[in-house]
Amino acid sequence: MRSSVITKLSMTLACTGVILVLISLAPLINNSPEQPIEQIDQVNYGKMLFTAKGCASCHQHDVVVRHWDFSVGPNLTYYAGNPDYVREWLQDPSAIRTDARMPDLDLSDEEIEALVVFLQTSVKQ
Ligand code: HEC
Repeated sequence: MRSSVITKLSMTLACTGVILVLISLAPLINNSPEQPIEQIDQVNYGKMLFTAKGCASCHQHDVVVRHWDFSVGPNLTYYAGNPDYVREWLQDPSAIRTDARMPDLDLSDEEIEALVVFLQTSVKQ
């Protein structure tokens, strides 16, 4: 009776060990040396938000597919704004420029961060 409990316990511990080793190896398997995995995720998330949050309806960006050809705002493909400035701008454009035509899109901090990373890195890929 007792030995079967011990066997179960050691099996559980062994499995946990294997899982922990696999988890610790995961970043090594997925990582390309130039771009850490978190950054790739941020870029893709930002790219997705660019469409989902409607940026693409007013801005052209060469890595984002659009099905129309007019833009209200500037083309952001090669936009290289200062990240701190872009963060503030995305928080609330009219707080920076009272005559801003771009609306406050009610973005969360995570969404703003991903969009900033996307705008900074997407051109260089
Ligand atoms: C309704 C149209 C519209 C939408 C939606 C929109 N923008 Fe804009 N955006 C503009 C316009 C117009 C400008 C030019 C400045 C102005 O007049 O507001 C601009 C300017 C910018 C700038 C440059 C700011 C500067 O001063 O250099 C950035 C960066 C930007 N937008 C990013 C985004 C992102 C990211 C999104 C999506 C979250 C987005 N925009 C959604 C219209 C829009």
